[in-house]
Amino acid sequence: MMNALKTTKLTYHNYTYREALAASEKINWRVEDIIGGDKLLDFDRPFMPEALARTEQLPFLTPSEKLALNQIRGNGYLCIFGVLEEVILPFVLDHTRAQLSSDEYRVRAFLEFAGEEAKHIHLFRRFREEFEQGFGSSCAVIGPAADIAPVVLAHHPLAVALTVLAGEWMTQQHYLESVRDNQHLDPQFKSLLKHHWMEEAQHAKLDTLMVEALALGRSETEIMKGVDDYLDIGGFLDGGLKQQVEFDLESFERATGRELKENQREEFRRQQLQANRWTYLGTGMTHEKVLETLEWLSPQARRKVESISAAFC
Ligand SMILES: [Fe+2]
Ligand SMILES: [Fe+2]
Repeated sequence: MMNALKTTKLTYHNYTYREALAASEKINWRVEDIIGGDKLLDFDRPFMPEALARTEQLPFLTPSEKLALNQIRGNGYLCIFGVLEEVILPFVLDHTRAQLSSDEYRVRAFLEFAGEEAKHIHLFRRFREEFEQGFGSSCAVIGPAADIAPVVLAHHPLAVALTVLAGEWMTQQHYLESVRDNQHLDPQFKSLLKHHWMEEAQHAKLDTLMVEALALGRSETEIMKGVDDYLDIGGFLDGGLKQQVEFDLESFERATGRELKENQREEFRRQQLQANRWTYLGTGMTHEKVLETLEWLSPQARRKVESISAAFC
């Protein structure tokens, strides 16, 4: 095929299935080790870093109201990632199953990846139970995954792989840049993010290999179709975030007993939508590793994503 991506195209990283497998085999925490029993959430402390929660940008909230909103956002964070992982799990299993008799390291690395995502889904569900017991009032979250996964998975496989890639680099950035050295956050919530991050570090590398495998042999036109579809998925998720902000506003008023004035509600919606966009879309679209992979696919792919990412920052 003319102008198709070839296996000989030089790559920009040194990720291998063998090393990803070896790294993941060294990490083996169990859900029971990091949640439940005496490992309680501390509702006197924030869960989310300010870089993602952005509650300080709502000056009409008192400190305790900002704390409540921060924890609502923390619950949303783990629940939304739980939903995204329910999209990732079948996609990775299908990708693995397509070539079961090829490279043994590939098959085993992807099966570890899938097993870890199943564990994270379990962890985040357990978290939600703990949160609901301790927070004191109900907080709705978008979903269920059964409604979201079919919509996402109906897109071009390259688009789904790019969505997964961006999602996993995103969690890396959140943890390393705003959670790891943050001494204000609840240690238990931080521990959940840390254990998740330990395994996501391998996933992001495997996603890079998955994107490359799915792109090989495809023409520039088809690659750009994958990129357009990736942006389409982003638009679909953005609609979900708008709904999430409405849920968060209701949860906030229920939890604090404060009824905001209409202009304050509008400000809450506008500002928190942008905070959610940055958390779930912008940090992925602007991540240097995601941009490198897009550039590898096609310089045009990188330019296209860069041309719209400012709206999600
Ligand atoms: Fe995960
Ligand atoms: Fe992951």
